[in-house]
Amino acid sequence: MNRALVIDDEEVIQDVIRRVLERHRISTREVYTLEEARKHLNQEYDLVFLDLRLPDGNGLDILPLIREKLPYSPVIVLTAYGTVESAVKALKQGAFDFLEKPFALKEFEDRVKKALQVRELYRQNIELKKELDEVKGFGNLIGKNRRMIEVYDMISRVAETDVTVLIEGESGTGKEMVAREIHRRSKRKGKFVVFHCGNISPDLVESHLFGHRKGAFTGATEDKKGFIEEAEGGTLLLDDILTLPWETQAKLLRFLETREFIKLGETKPRRSTARLLIASNKPLKKAVEEGKFREDLFYRINVVRIELPPLRSRREDIPLFVFHFLKEFSRKHNKRIKGIKEQAMDLLMNYHWPGNVRELKNAIESAVILSRGEWIDVGNLPDWILRGKPTDVKISLGTKTYKEMMEEFERTLILTALRQAGGVQKKAAELLGMNPSTLSMAIKRLGIK
Ligand SMILES: Nc1ncnc2c1ncn2[C@@H]1O[C@H](COP(=O)(O)OP(=O)(O)OP(=O)(O)O)[C@@H](O)[C@H]1O
Ligand SMILES: [Mg+2]
Repeated sequence: MNRALVIDDEEVIQDVIRRVLERHRISTREVYTLEEARKHLNQEYDLVFLDLRLPDGNGLDILPLIREKLPYSPVIVLTAYGTVESAVKALKQGAFDFLEKPFALKEFEDRVKKALQVRELYRQNIELKKELDEVKGFGNLIGKNRRMIEVYDMISRVAETDVTVLIEGESGTGKEMVAREIHRRSKRKGKFVVFHCGNISPDLVESHLFGHRKGAFTGATEDKKGFIEEAEGGTLLLDDILTLPWETQAKLLRFLETREFIKLGETKPRRSTARLLIASNKPLKKAVEEGKFREDLFYRINVVRIELPPLRSRREDIPLFVFHFLKEFSRKHNKRIKGIKEQAMDLLMNYHWPGNVRELKNAIESAVILSRGEWIDVGNLPDWILRGKPTDVKISLGTKTYKEMMEEFERTLILTALRQAGGVQKKAAELLGMNPSTLSMAIKRLGIK
C-alpha cells in the first residue's frame, strides 16, 4: 500500500484528500503545520501534498528539506486561487506538480495517478541501483548471469597458475577485461601487455612478438624488445590469434613448450616467464577444422577455455550494465541523470546487440551526451537501436545453434512488426499475416515486453 504525507491546515481539504486517496488504496498521514511536517520527514512516503500557506510559514520553506529527505517522492503543491507565481517557484525547486484550490476531483485524481506512475518509475530505478550495489559482478566485470558466474569461477581457479588460457567470445563481449582480471588476480609482478596480432603486417609479427637485434633485417635500425620480453614476469594477451601467420604459430608453440624463444638476429635462445593468454572472436576449433590454424598449437592452447556469452543471451544483465554505464558517463560528462524510462529500457532489453557490451556502452554514452533532462528516454537512444531491422541478424554458424538463431530472427521480426504497429498486437499480427493468438504466444515465449 502506498502512503501519502498531506501537509495542509484546512480540515476540509484533509478530509477530501483522505477519502479520495483511500479509494486508490493510498493511506494518508495528516499534518497541519510545518513544524509537524518536519518530524515526519524521516519516514517513507510515496507522495507528498504540500499547501503553500500554513499557520507557521510558507510551504516553500520546507520544500528543499522534503526533496532532500524524500528525493524519490513526487511533491504536489496545493495553492490558493491566484497564487500561481509561487506554484511556479515550487516547480523550479523540484515540486512535481501543482493544483489550484479549489480543485475538481477528476483533476486531482489525474495528478495523483501521474505522480504514482513517476513514483513507480523511481522505485524501479532505485531497486535496480540497489541490486547493482549488492552484486555487481566480479572485480571490474559486471554481470550475474549464470554463465558469467561460471566465467568468474574459472578466472579465480586459473588466475594464480601459469596455465595458458584461451578466451573466446564475439567482439565486444569482454575478452580483454577477463584477461586483465586474470592478470590482476595472478599477483604477477610484471606488466599486463596486449599484442593485437591483427594490427600488424604478417611479416613484422614475429619481430614484434620476439623482438629483434639491430640489423636483423632491413629497417631494423636498433635493438628492440618484443612483447614477450615486455611481459616478462607478467602476462601477455595475444588478441585475435587467428591472424597469426602459420610459421609464427609454430614458433609460438615452441615457446609454450620450452619457455624459450629466439630474438630475430640472434642464435641463442632466451627464456621468458611471461604468461600467455589467448583471445579470439571466432572459435579456434573451427579454424583448425578448416585448416586455418595449427592443430598442435590449438591443443597446446586449449587447456583451459573461457567462453564469453554474447550479450543477447544474457539479457537479464542488461539493466546492470545500463545503470553502471549511466553512472560512469554522467560523471564523465558532468550530467545529472537519475535513470532511464521504462520504454527506453525495453528497447535496450530487446535489441540484439551484435556489438555486445561495447555497443551497449557506446549507446549509453551517446544517450547521456544527447539527453537534455534527468531521464534517459527513447528519443535519446541511437536510431539504429530504434530501427532494429530483421536484416541485422547476423548469421554466425558454429557459434550459435539453429534454434538460437531462429529465435533471434523471430524476435527481431516481431519487434519490427510491433514497432510499425505502434505496439498494437492485433495490427502487428496483421502485418505478419499471423493469427493474433499465435503472435501473443510467441511474444510470451520470447519474453518480449
Ligand atoms: N562484464 C563487463 N563488465 C563491464 N564492462 C564490460 C564487460 N564486458 C565488456 N565490457 C566493456 O565493453 C568493452 C569491450 O570489452 P573488451 O575490449 O574486453 O571486449 P573484447 O571481447 O576484447 O572485444 P574485441 O573482440 O572487439 O577485442 C570495454 O569497454 C569493456 O570495458
Ligand atoms: Mg579485445
